[in-house]
Amino acid sequence: MESGQSEQLFKEALEVMPGGVNSPVRAFKSVGGTPITFRRGEGAWLEDWDGNRYLDFCGSWGPLVLGHAHPHVRERIEKTLADGWTFGAPHRSETLLARKVLERLRFAEKVRFVNSGTEAVMTAVRLARGVTNRPYILKFDGCYHGHLDSMLVSAGSGLATFGTSSSAGVPNEIAATTLVAPLDDENAVEDLFKKQGSKIAAVALETIPANNGLLYQRPEFVAFLRKITRDHGALLLLDEVLVGLRVQPGFAFQHYGVEPDIVTLGKVIGGGFPAAALAASAGIMDQLAPSGPVYQAGTLSGNPVAMTAGLATLEVLFDQGGWDRLMAVAERFRTGIANALAQSALPLQYVQTGGLFWFSFDSEVLPRSAAAISKPGIARYAALHKRLLEQGIYFAPSGYEVGFLNTAMTDAEVDHAVSVVMTSINECYR
Ligand SMILES: Cc1ncc(COP(=O)(O)O)c(C=O)c1O
Repeated sequence: MESGQSEQLFKEALEVMPGGVNSPVRAFKSVGGTPITFRRGEGAWLEDWDGNRYLDFCGSWGPLVLGHAHPHVRERIEKTLADGWTFGAPHRSETLLARKVLERLRFAEKVRFVNSGTEAVMTAVRLARGVTNRPYILKFDGCYHGHLDSMLVSAGSGLATFGTSSSAGVPNEIAATTLVAPLDDENAVEDLFKKQGSKIAAVALETIPANNGLLYQRPEFVAFLRKITRDHGALLLLDEVLVGLRVQPGFAFQHYGVEPDIVTLGKVIGGGFPAAALAASAGIMDQLAPSGPVYQAGTLSGNPVAMTAGLATLEVLFDQGGWDRLMAVAERFRTGIANALAQSALPLQYVQTGGLFWFSFDSEVLPRSAAAISKPGIARYAALHKRLLEQGIYFAPSGYEVGFLNTAMTDAEVDHAVSVVMTSINECYR
């Protein structure tokens, strides 16, 4: 595999950007080697500056549910561009995308569009505090909600605690407004509500935590969170930035049969452009400025190109058979992996939900919490990642990251990937 161009380009990037990247995981720190600089993407494939081609299982970390440069999305974007691309004023595409998203959400009545998942969660947290007039947010160890101060917090010592900041630059006073509990642990949450219940504005959960492996939660646990928040007058904030429109032809909370008070969305709804959102009942959403007292704004929020890309993506997904294709790809991938695993005695667990999958290496049981993930298993992922790259398969550069399937993958590409992935896993994890 040629890599001279990527190495040179990354060297140049290092001179002008911290770590050579604009988002840390892209730097390949956990797998080693030089990050690949891509030149173009088409359908299920990526091509780098050295001319190597890769079947893409990262999909820009989730948004590209239709693969790269889908013709329908591209055509709609080009038409929008021809009329100018930002007005800082209402644009029809905002209302159209809001309607399309609300159709799928059902429980919610209004949406606010922002530019990133981080911004969506940041606004949702402020909104929850504004609505309840309470200071604390309860989050779970192992869930990622973006890089806002109050979520860059991890568990302190003890089972369920006030958090400690997990990044320099987050004041302890801010970290102290976030409580952190382990996933999959009703007692820890109950304990926190017993001690702090009257101060908790919201419980925030990735409906299916997918940023630290894929930590599928028991339905009883999610139902328990719904009940305890209601009982204590706190809001349930379900973060579906990653799992939304990926595991259900709607949102993951529908799989659990619970309704959140606020949901955050991102990735797929922007079709690969910077768009994310929060949504809730009109009563809650109207607390946002300008209808209400909770301030939030954005120069490029609801950008026409991003709105159009999201709208066109959802059209393909739900009006043109895209979802069925995604599920067919998912089923073929799942079956292929399951058949291969049945014939091997590898010490790993495989989990897939809709178009998302993850291998839990060196594990006897499927982890449901961050603490249950095997660290040696993750450390050994670096060798697998390298081996896959050499064979033209692009997995995310960290063993904690999930894999993303897309509708552009053909049956032959899925079969090829299953075969390469399972052979490589056998070689690396035997
Ligand atoms: C569940 C979840 N919430 C929030 C975010 C932050 O989104 P963004 O990277 O667009 O700021 C992410 C990003 O991966 C996410 O997975």
